Amino acid sequence: MKVRDSIALVTGANQGIGQAFVETLLAAGAARIYAIDIHMDWLERKAAGESRLVPVKLDIRDEDSAGKTAKRCPDVNLLINNAAITQHTGLIRAASLDRARDIMDTNYFGTLHMCRAFAPVLKANGGGMIVNVLSIASLVHIPRVGPYSASKAAESSMTQGVRAELAGQGTKVLAVFAGPVDTAISSHRPPPKAPPSEITEATLQAIEEEAEEIYPDGVAKDVHAQLASDPKGLERRFAAQLPEG
Ligand SMILES: NC(=O)c1ccc[n+]([C@@H]2O[C@H](COP(=O)([O-])OP(=O)(O)OC[C@H]3O[C@@H](n4cnc5c(N)ncnc54)[C@H](OP(=O)(O)O)[C@@H]3O)[C@@H](O)[C@H]2O)c1
Repeated sequence: MKVRDSIALVTGANQGIGQAFVETLLAAGAARIYAIDIHMDWLERKAAGESRLVPVKLDIRDEDSAGKTAKRCPDVNLLINNAAITQHTGLIRAASLDRARDIMDTNYFGTLHMCRAFAPVLKANGGGMIVNVLSIASLVHIPRVGPYSASKAAESSMTQGVRAELAGQGTKVLAVFAGPVDTAISSHRPPPKAPPSEITEATLQAIEEEAEEIYPDGVAKDVHAQLASDPKGLERRFAAQLPEG
C-alpha cells in the first residue's frame, strides 16, 4: 500500500522506534498520524508545529479504552503496533513473575487489543495494513530478557493468526523482526545497535511492497540466516550470553 496520503496510527510513539516512525511517516507524506503513548511530552511538543500529528493518550493494556480509541480514529488504514516493555532478567532468575505478567499484558495482549479494536476500522477503509514490530527475540529465546523474549514469540504467533483471520477482508499484516536498536529498551546492551530510522525506513519500504515479514538490520538478517541453517546452534549462541551463576 502507499504510505503517501495514508492515515496511520503508531503505538509507543513518544520515544524510540515509535518516535522515528512518526518522523519517517511525516517525511513520506502520510496524511494523518494518530500517535499513541502513555507519556506524551515529545508528542505534544511535536504536534504543536505539525497539524498532521494527533497525539492520543492510551494504555494499550486497557481493552475498553482501545475500543474507544478506534471509534475516535475511524479513518485509520495503517496500524503500526510498536509499543512494548521489557525486563532484563531470566524466567527462573526473576525474583517474582509480576513484571513478566505485565510484559505479556503489554506486548501480547496490548497488541492484540489494538488488532481487535482496529480490524473493523481497517475493513471499512478498504483493508489497509497492520504492522507488528517484533524482534529477533521472537525467533530465538534470549535468556538475558527471558520474559520479553517469550512475549515477543507469542506476539509473532499472534501476528500469523491475525494475518490468516483478516486475509478475507483484504488486510495485509507485516511482521518486523528487528535486531538491537539504539533506544531506551536496549540501553543496557553494548553495540552494535541500529539507529531507529534504519528500522522505520525499511518498514515503510516493506509496507509499499506489501511484504509479510522483514529483517531490517544486519543482526536480524544474520539471525534469520542461522535460524534456517543451524537453529540449535543459534539457540546455544544466545544461551551462552547469559552470565555465570
Ligand atoms: N530497541 C531494541 O533493541 C528493539 C529490538 C527489537 C525490537 N524492538 C521492538 O521495537 C518496539 C519499540 O521499542 P523501543 O526500542 O522503541 O522501546 P522504547 O524506546 O522503550 O519505546 C517504547 C514506547 O512504548 C510505550 N509504551 C509502553 N507500554 C505502553 C502501553 N501499555 N501503552 C502505550 N504505550 C506504551 C513506552 O512508553 P513509556 O516508556 O513512556 O511508558 C515508550 O514510549 C518494541 O515493540 C520492541 O519490542 C526493539
